[in-house]
Amino acid sequence: MGTRLIIDTDPGVDDAFAIALAALSEDVELLGVTTVFGNVPLSATTRNARRLLSLCGRSDVPVAAGAQRPLVYPQPHRAHYAHGVDGLSGRSHVLPEPERELEQAGAVELLVSLLDAADGPVTIAPIGPLTNIAALLAAHPGVREKIDRVVIMGGALGHGNTTAAAEFNIWSDPEAARRVLTGGEVPCVLVPMDLTYRCAVDAEWLAKLNGSGQIGAALHALTPDYREHYNRALGWDGIVMHDAVAVAEAIKPGILHTETFPIDVDCTLGPSRGATVVDRRRAELRDDTDDTDVHSDTGELGRVRVATDTDLDGLRGFVLDRLATVTGR
Ligand code: RIB
Ligand code: CA
Repeated sequence: MGTRLIIDTDPGVDDAFAIALAALSEDVELLGVTTVFGNVPLSATTRNARRLLSLCGRSDVPVAAGAQRPLVYPQPHRAHYAHGVDGLSGRSHVLPEPERELEQAGAVELLVSLLDAADGPVTIAPIGPLTNIAALLAAHPGVREKIDRVVIMGGALGHGNTTAAAEFNIWSDPEAARRVLTGGEVPCVLVPMDLTYRCAVDAEWLAKLNGSGQIGAALHALTPDYREHYNRALGWDGIVMHDAVAVAEAIKPGILHTETFPIDVDCTLGPSRGATVVDRRRAELRDDTDDTDVHSDTGELGRVRVATDTDLDGLRGFVLDRLATVTGR
């Protein structure tokens, strides 16, 4: 039995790679996909998610739409600069029309029903803003028992990508991120941009993807705007498939090296809003200087596993092999 998985997503070009990675993996039971505002507005992320599942031949997978804005403060800035006008380099319309209707239920309702019905622990992979997941944990605390891990793409140990201090997913809804990451309710794995940047793929890798089959060629066709953005961000011809790195960990536990650290999220309205403050000091120093209680009733409050390293070529090869399929399942 492989991984029971639910993806919460804001496609998004790198989300597209991540969704396909899960949808095409024989050892993954993709229970459902929930959508959230983020790279582009909710209507577009939802349309894109449904079309991507259709591309992968996965009309068996239910899709439900979630939050269209953050929990507390408005955050009107989308990421068209990286993902294009429609979230997929202006190529969403080329993807096959969805064969399955959008669920009438909202994202949180679908998450609850899938978790309740699951015959074992479920991994949730949020690869966009954490608004839906915060709402789930706040309104349905009982689902905790059915959640194995929450494997999150987000955060930055060093500088951000959306501001000097913050990575886009966390910056989009810091209050939601703080609820999920510091609540101590579910085991969290944070896959920060520091590692996802190191997993960047180059023109040669992208050419292999393009020549790997129908799905790979279709994903490659979604990359132009994203690739142009990352050529500027990286300084060389490649892309950063942030979300695919996180989903790789969700479906192959241990592919990323993780370490446990205390964490907090800056929810102020100043220049560091959305920063993930990961305390990497030696434990002895923390013990000396930090007298707050870090234990909640279910786990260690404010501690998460942070992905800090991986076999970079091994990760790149894992993703390419999984995406290199001629047709959807
Ligand atoms: O900062 C990268 C993250 O923000 C990725 O999830 C990307 O899709 C965007 O949502
Ligand atoms: Ca994303």
